[in-house]
Amino acid sequence: TRVAVLISGSGTNLQALMEQVKKPSSSAEIVVVISNRPGVMGLKRASMAGIQTRVVDHKLYGSRAEFDGTIDKVLEEFGVELVCLAGFMRILTGPFVRKWSGKMLNIHPSLLPSFKGVNAQKQALQAGVRVTGCTVHFVAEEVDAGAIVVQEAVPILVTDTEDSLSERIREAEHRAFPAALELVGSGAVKLRDDGRIPPSVKL
Ligand code: GRF
Repeated sequence: TRVAVLISGSGTNLQALMEQVKKPSSSAEIVVVISNRPGVMGLKRASMAGIQTRVVDHKLYGSRAEFDGTIDKVLEEFGVELVCLAGFMRILTGPFVRKWSGKMLNIHPSLLPSFKGVNAQKQALQAGVRVTGCTVHFVAEEVDAGAIVVQEAVPILVTDTEDSLSERIREAEHRAFPAALELVGSGAVKLRDDGRIPPSVKL
C-alpha cells in the first residue's frame, strides 16, 4: 500500500510509521511526506530516510479548498492509496475528506469520543480522569469523530503535568499508529459505506 504521511511539526509519529514500514512483514510503503509548514523537524526525518517530501504552505492559499486541492494533486502524483495525518494541524474540507473516506487515518491524544479538539491531554488532566490514551481513527467530516481503528489506554499519575502526560501518550501513539497502519494497509480493517467498521468474522 502506497502511503502518504501529512505532518506539521516534529514528526515523532512519522518516525514510528517509517520504522514500521521498514519491517519485512509490513504491507505499506511511505512514498511521500507532506508538511503544511516549511522547515519542520518531520521533513528532516523524512529526508534522512530517503523519502520524498513536499511543503504545501497553507499561508500561500486564499482558501481551504485551494490548499486541499494542492494536497490532493500531490497525493495523486504519488499514486497514494492511504493517507496518515500525523500531527497534521489543519482541518480538511468536506470534499477532500469525502474523496479520501476510508483511506485517511488520524491520531488523537485521547480515548475518543472523550476530549475532542485541541489540548486533549490538558482536558483529561482537568477532568480528573485516571485513564486517558490515544485513538487512531478514520477521518470523517465531523472532527475527531470517525470510526475508531486502534486505541491504547494510558494511566494519569497524580504527579503528572501536561508535559509528562503528553510524553506518555506519545509513546502509546508510536505503537497505536503503526498497528492501525498495518490493519488498514493490509485490508484487514475496512470502512463500510455507513461509516462503520464491520466486525471481522473469524472464519
Ligand atoms: C501528537 O501529540 C499527536 O497526538 C497530535 O500531534 C502530535 C504530533 O506529534 N495529533 P508528532 O509531530 O508526531 O511528534
